Amino acid sequence: MGILSKLKALFGGSAEQAVQSAEKVTQEVKQTVDSAIEKGTAAAHDAVNTMEEMATHASGAASGIVKEASDTAREWTDAASNAATAASARLATAGVRAIHGATSSQPTGSTTKVSITINGRKTSAEVEDRMLLSSFIREKRNLTGTHIGCDTSQCGTCVVHVNGKAVKSCTMLAVQASGSEITTIEGLSSGGELHPMQAAFRDNHGLQCGFCTPGMIMTAVDIVNREGADVDEKTIREQLEGNICRCTGYHNIVKSIAAGAREMGESAKQTAE
Ligand code: FES
Ligand code: FES
Repeated sequence: MGILSKLKALFGGSAEQAVQSAEKVTQEVKQTVDSAIEKGTAAAHDAVNTMEEMATHASGAASGIVKEASDTAREWTDAASNAATAASARLATAGVRAIHGATSSQPTGSTTKVSITINGRKTSAEVEDRMLLSSFIREKRNLTGTHIGCDTSQCGTCVVHVNGKAVKSCTMLAVQASGSEITTIEGLSSGGELHPMQAAFRDNHGLQCGFCTPGMIMTAVDIVNREGADVDEKTIREQLEGNICRCTGYHNIVKSIAAGAREMGESAKQTAE
């Protein structure tokens, strides 16, 4: 039996009616299927969105935990570093106090005659045994270019040369320096001419307030005496560790020292010729 005959038998109408009915049924089935697909797709999209949201939350939570842990670690590191700095400062202070304590426990008026050559001039004086070299230079000889920034061996503003070597004069007693040759910042220039290192600091803006400058220059000359005129920037920075400047950020100080070193080298060559 042909398809039209079968449709005729089923619907009892003409074949065209049967085809129309079939098309209608097909249309309804198609709509039902489309609707099911649409719902399924929407449900699938919802599921994907939900999963993405969950993943975002999970990632956010994980990164929050990591950040918190890193912040805590940083806080602990800072605290440890601060504690170490404070401990080191207290240690230095304790060292200087020990010197003062040891000497101040002696009978009042305990004095010793010292004989020191400062900037080429021999000088003798009766001093208290506990007097620091920095105080001797400033108070007994009025050479106030040597500054005192801390009195606890940290800042380097009091650096002078004792027998040609840089020394923090607040770490030494005047009686210990007896018999020594000392150069202070006032003794660096000669014949009214600035020392090449002093000129380099002036020319390269190596200072602002100038408080650290005498100690910086005395240390700088010592660095060049030991390391030579071609001393590199890394060495200069490392060896300035004991000199603190609160103003400049050190950049122009390092630049000045490198320039001063070259000039010292040139002067030495000319003197040799
Ligand atoms: S005063 Fe001597 S190191 Fe500061
Ligand atoms: S220039 Fe001011 S402390 Fe160094």
